Amino acid sequence: MKYEIFIWNESYCIGFEMIDKQHKELVSIINEIYSVFMNNQGINGLMPLFDKLTDYTRYHFTAEQKILEEKLSEEDFLDHLKKHEYFIMKIERMKSQLNDEGEKILFEIINFLRNWLQDHILIEDKEAFSQK
Ligand SMILES: [Fe+2]
Ligand SMILES: [Fe+2]
Repeated sequence: MKYEIFIWNESYCIGFEMIDKQHKELVSIINEIYSVFMNNQGINGLMPLFDKLTDYTRYHFTAEQKILEEKLSEEDFLDHLKKHEYFIMKIERMKSQLNDEGEKILFEIINFLRNWLQDHILIEDKEAFSQK
């Protein structure tokens, strides 16, 4: 069964079709991870999903940064870049935590992913893409 911990709605759209599509894909990967958790499928199915999340996040950040580099001042661009790097670092760290500590930290991880992405889209991406 499929479960959703991050329910997409219009308020997450930043008005840049390609970016909105990529954000939706990230949301769906987080929901896939959540479904594994809810269905008690164990840790085996999780690593490929975390790899998928890392790969797609890198892909999305690269695409987004290409656009923002043109849009933002150097200072704002570097700030945004740092936020992306922080998220990648957190995902990498979570993967190894999950390996060491197992599923008991999974829900905490899922919550972090959902909260970070929600806030980043609604606040930082929205703000950045609203710049002329
Ligand atoms: Fe983004
Ligand atoms: Fe971003």
